[in-house]
Amino acid sequence: MQELIDIINKKLDEYIPINYPEELFESMRYSVLAGGKRLRPVMCLETCRIFGGNIEDAMPAACAFEMLHTQSLIHDDLPCMDNDDYRRGKLTNHKKFSYSTAVLAGDALISYGTQLIIEKSKLPSDVILKVLQQYSLAAGAYGIIAGQIVDIAMEGKPYDFKILEYIHTHKTADLFRGVLKSGAIIAGANKEQLQAMDDFAQNLGVAFQICDDILDETSTYEEMGKTMGKDKAEGKLTYTALFGIEKSREKLNCLLDNACDIMKEQNIKSEIFNNIINSIREKAEK
Ligand code: IPE
Ligand code: IPE
Ligand code: MG
Ligand code: MG
Ligand code: MG
Repeated sequence: MQELIDIINKKLDEYIPINYPEELFESMRYSVLAGGKRLRPVMCLETCRIFGGNIEDAMPAACAFEMLHTQSLIHDDLPCMDNDDYRRGKLTNHKKFSYSTAVLAGDALISYGTQLIIEKSKLPSDVILKVLQQYSLAAGAYGIIAGQIVDIAMEGKPYDFKILEYIHTHKTADLFRGVLKSGAIIAGANKEQLQAMDDFAQNLGVAFQICDDILDETSTYEEMGKTMGKDKAEGKLTYTALFGIEKSREKLNCLLDNACDIMKEQNIKSEIFNNIINSIREKAEK
């Protein structure tokens, strides 16, 4: 996994050279290269490998999805959203630069991702088109943005499980879905395999967000590189707010068991996904 992370970091650096206007490119680079676990690009490359593809073929898409993810973080941290001062152990983009630059750097990252997929992928155009579809579904009004707008709208409102599921599905699992399905599409996976990755992403993505909800209550700035304990104060609709920590852990483990079952059914052998699943379980238990 570390090997893949090193390659991804090198590629991300290479893909965003400083250009004019410098403030924009510096701001994009600041957040993209600030660190982060690189979970999404790693999962994209690993899914491509699992279905028999060449990981180099998935590199532009993997890096594009990390740019999209970084955009979602930059905008998530804005004063009009979660209003956070720290991300990935550094000042948030709008604190380091300005509110307007952070908004624009985020916008630029979304479209830069599509540009990368189109310009850097050495893939047949029908495959590129399918990957772009996954990218736009995850990024837009049927994906992250839908989840985020409901997340904000529900602050301080009465808890509702159906809405909580909606938020976690769209703000987090949809990006996992796009990442995994793109890796699979690049490798030439069939319809049934794509459906399996869709289900796998739903289970893994929601489990990942439940873990993030738990960590907001149990972890520290030093471990997470972002301010903890804010969800409760803001009246966020989270798993822990609705069910408490213990029940949230049970739900998380159940979703991860489903993810493991899907891997077994599909005969998927992946040390990387096993590690990711185990690390989510462990973090949630601490
Ligand atoms: C944070 O994602 C946003 C959530 C969906 C909870 P990560 O925990 O993967 O953040 P980075 O990329 O490592 O910074
Ligand atoms: C993350 O939800 C969803 C995104 C699309 C960024 P959070 O708002 O809980 O993420 P963190 O805790 O700030 O990373
Ligand atoms: Mg948020
Ligand atoms: Mg947030
Ligand atoms: Mg959170």
